[in-house]
Amino acid sequence: LPFRHVAIVVFGASGDLAKKMTYPALFSLMANNMLPKDRTHFIGAARSKYKMEDFHKKISSGIKSSDQQVLSKFLEKCPYISLSAYDDGPSYQRLDSEIAKLESQSTGSGKNLRVYYIALPPSVFGDVSENLRKYAWHKEGINRIIVEKPYGKDYQSAKVLSNKLASLFTEEEVFRIDHYLGKDSVKSVLPLRFGANPFLSSTWSREHVQYVTVNFKEAFGAEGRGGYFDEFGIIRDVMQNHLMQWIILAGMERPNSLSVKDIHQAKLKFINDCRPVRPSDVIIGQYTASSKDPNKKAYKDDETVKKDSKASTFATAVLYIDNDRWRDVPFVIRCGKALDETRAELTLHYKTPPDSLFPSESGRTGTTFTIRDHPEKSHVLTATTKKPGRGFTVLNAPLSIDFSNPKYTDSYVPTAYEVLIYDAVRGDHTWFVPREEAEEAWRVWDDAIKNSESRNPLKYEYGSEGPKEEKDLLKQLGVEFETGE
Ligand code: BG6
Repeated sequence: LPFRHVAIVVFGASGDLAKKMTYPALFSLMANNMLPKDRTHFIGAARSKYKMEDFHKKISSGIKSSDQQVLSKFLEKCPYISLSAYDDGPSYQRLDSEIAKLESQSTGSGKNLRVYYIALPPSVFGDVSENLRKYAWHKEGINRIIVEKPYGKDYQSAKVLSNKLASLFTEEEVFRIDHYLGKDSVKSVLPLRFGANPFLSSTWSREHVQYVTVNFKEAFGAEGRGGYFDEFGIIRDVMQNHLMQWIILAGMERPNSLSVKDIHQAKLKFINDCRPVRPSDVIIGQYTASSKDPNKKAYKDDETVKKDSKASTFATAVLYIDNDRWRDVPFVIRCGKALDETRAELTLHYKTPPDSLFPSESGRTGTTFTIRDHPEKSHVLTATTKKPGRGFTVLNAPLSIDFSNPKYTDSYVPTAYEVLIYDAVRGDHTWFVPREEAEEAWRVWDDAIKNSESRNPLKYEYGSEGPKEEKDLLKQLGVEFETGE
């Protein structure tokens, strides 16, 4: 990396995301020699007051490291600055001089790089960005700002946020992060479709695909995150961004090349073709307490949640894409917390040819193709084939690749956050979300979200499969989430 010094400043350093995701990612990047050890610092900033020792204890608790020496070396590079308030100019001046001191001690050559990673609620975002621009932007160096979700709350607020960013920074300096774009399982859809797999690419359309499902289930609830979650709900939390990004890559046309510009253009074209989701095509739910496990409390019993909360913790929605490839093919997206299992996968369900000679035992002859992120990273094709034995009994059997097999992986497999933070340091925007894309994604979901907020969510028990009423919608559409395995 051609920098004299690299400063990665984590705003919201005392928060959950920083502990669970950001610092472990920074640690691993350093331990794996992805960042220049002698010229990089990770500066934490937040309002809480910490003794350095306590701050280090806090961030180490999220880091899995068997080597204490490597960990202590990392912590030496992690100063912490407590800001009096997010709109307090002098706090930013202190931050600036702290970074400038580290930069002046560096012996590297090239420009100084400052990457500001903002993991803070939208309410303080404006103050932070203004003050950063005013007091902590390096005049001769390179400055970047990584913006975490939530990127606004709807189309209007996303636009306001974009305008704010545009008034302070160039688009080159802004990196809107969606960690799903750092996942191999999500990006692998590109080589599967546009690599050399004619059996997939030639069938990847309405001619052969009956419907597409995205099945995102978590076996844990929103425990302890009520403050954030209650205001946003699950559609904004994962559907409108993470799962939408997965669908965009799975559904978009072939980009002209793998350049940033061409990939972003193809993605935006796909979103423009998405029909706004109809409120009647959305089912929402909220979990109640488990009848079996007293520890699995109802969403509303979480002390960080309002007692009369109508926030949805489960949603199933149907998306249609008005273009030649996908017209009338339902994309059925389910996401839910506190369900019976943890799973994240995208599946193409193929049509059953009307002239199939071999009805299967299960009644299913259509095959499926799944790209899975959880519970393991894999690609699974279920194919109809002959059941061994007499006669012609047919089954849908999986042909699978399990990417946890070391045969398929490098010894160092970075997490999604590592991939993206490293990309931001290198200045590569490919897997970040450009302004227009971030706004357009809201256009698709705005009506559905607003309408869902005026409804009472259906109830489902913690640990169950979700609200029973979902089955009616799926039946109406002829959709099953199961893949025939
Ligand atoms: C986060 C959401 O952005 O993504 C969480 O806020 C969710 O609610 C998480 O659990 C899912 O990410 P992953 O990588 O575990 O699928």
